[in-house]
Amino acid sequence: MKYLPTFMDLAARDCLVVGGGEAALAKIRLLLKAQASITVIAPTVVEDIEVLADGGKLTWHPRTFQAADVQGMTMVYGAHGDWDRDEPVAKAARAANIPVNVVDCPALSSFITPAIVDRDPIIIGISSAGAAPILARNIRARLEAMLPARLGRLASFAASFRGAVKATMNDGRTRRRFWEGFFAGPVAEQVLDGDEVGGREAMLSLINKTGQRDSAEEGTVTLVGAGPGDPDLLTLKALRLLQEADVVVYDKLVGPEIVDYARRDAERIYVGKAKGQHSKSQGDINQILLSAAQAGQKVVRLKGGDPFVFGRGGEEQHFLEDHGIKVEVVPGITAATGCAAAAGIPLTERGKAQSVTFITGHGKDGDPDLDWASLAKPNQTLAVYMGVSTAGRNAARLMSHGLAGSTPIAVIENGTRPEQRVLAGRLDSLGDLMAGHGITGPALIIIGEVARDAKAQSPAALLAAAG
Ligand SMILES: C[S@@+](CC[C@H](N)C(=O)[O-])C[C@H]1O[C@@H](n2cnc3c(N)ncnc32)[C@H](O)[C@@H]1O
Repeated sequence: MKYLPTFMDLAARDCLVVGGGEAALAKIRLLLKAQASITVIAPTVVEDIEVLADGGKLTWHPRTFQAADVQGMTMVYGAHGDWDRDEPVAKAARAANIPVNVVDCPALSSFITPAIVDRDPIIIGISSAGAAPILARNIRARLEAMLPARLGRLASFAASFRGAVKATMNDGRTRRRFWEGFFAGPVAEQVLDGDEVGGREAMLSLINKTGQRDSAEEGTVTLVGAGPGDPDLLTLKALRLLQEADVVVYDKLVGPEIVDYARRDAERIYVGKAKGQHSKSQGDINQILLSAAQAGQKVVRLKGGDPFVFGRGGEEQHFLEDHGIKVEVVPGITAATGCAAAAGIPLTERGKAQSVTFITGHGKDGDPDLDWASLAKPNQTLAVYMGVSTAGRNAARLMSHGLAGSTPIAVIENGTRPEQRVLAGRLDSLGDLMAGHGITGPALIIIGEVARDAKAQSPAALLAAAG
């Protein structure tokens, strides 16, 4: 991170704006909102600045800048818009260790002003660190459209009840849950709709009700599908629950970008295989989930893809429910649908496949015990999970039960992730194809006519992706 986002209290602090044009006026407007004490230095100024000076809102010195002008300032803006006149301002401020911003010139600035979404007291600053200001502005426009106009009122409303909530609920976690429930609930909606009087009454009864409840919090576990890898494929519910979780338990298939959606102070427990160590056993994982829930924590168990598709989510659910823990399940995009979409393969295209079957390529003690005769029938699609090491043998089994060796296949390794590779070929060369390209997984194999549509990479691209 090149710039650290911070919010400064400038109320009654001396701030200097050097320059008197429109750019200076924009900075002055910002500083006025922050209730700074503003001095402007410029031989001439635009009319609006003159009016502000006449109205006592700022002090204007109609002259050119001198280095001594920065003394005692908390913040300095150079707003001429030309290097020759702004550089001395930046130099003087830097020499005195005063934060300086030169409009549209990161090279002369020690801080930058972000694009701002203002729902005071909620303020959102967006910066691209000078890399793409228009993108930052686009993001601001999207946020502006998304956030209710009365969001600031809601924040102030909540602030006015902080004391009452604290007095009624001793425990920090109870308070956090109260606020999570409040902001997602009908009273907040009422305030956002403009009914603050009704909202106040409803809020008081909500606080009383929560305060009277048994303060022993019940822990919960939510099994959350994290999808095949691309963080944009998370569901909205998964994102919300992640941000509310006290504890996040995750394994190898879940990337760090997704785990990072958790609250900063949430406990993160990795239960996948670490270098040189065995992964935790299912029994250990069950125990971790149980202990956290019994301690009253909100636990999110993050699993790659969908928790109930080859994810052992069922085992965790049964174990926890047998111990009296409430379990919720949030589905995720499973590897078969995620990889098929990423490789352009319609899994049940009309005329080519009337069904799609998810199978595991790996059985309890090695090879899977499947109904190969029915899997070898035409007009269907097979999506094989965990099938890298057994690919050749499973292909041979399908062929020995009658599936043509010429049947199209596709292999998608690291589907939906930046390092995704897509291979295409025939069933009778599946094993060689995977070995030849050093596929180590996670990889999904799609078998059937629909795989003919796979958007496979060229051999050169595959070699480059394999590094
Ligand atoms: C233990 S299973 C978990 C499946 C997961 N619950 C789901 O719904 O996708 C692991 C297998 O899923 C497949 N898989 C998961 N993520 C994948 C990805 N991004 N690309 C290709 N295959 C993936 C691979 O076959 C891998 O061996």
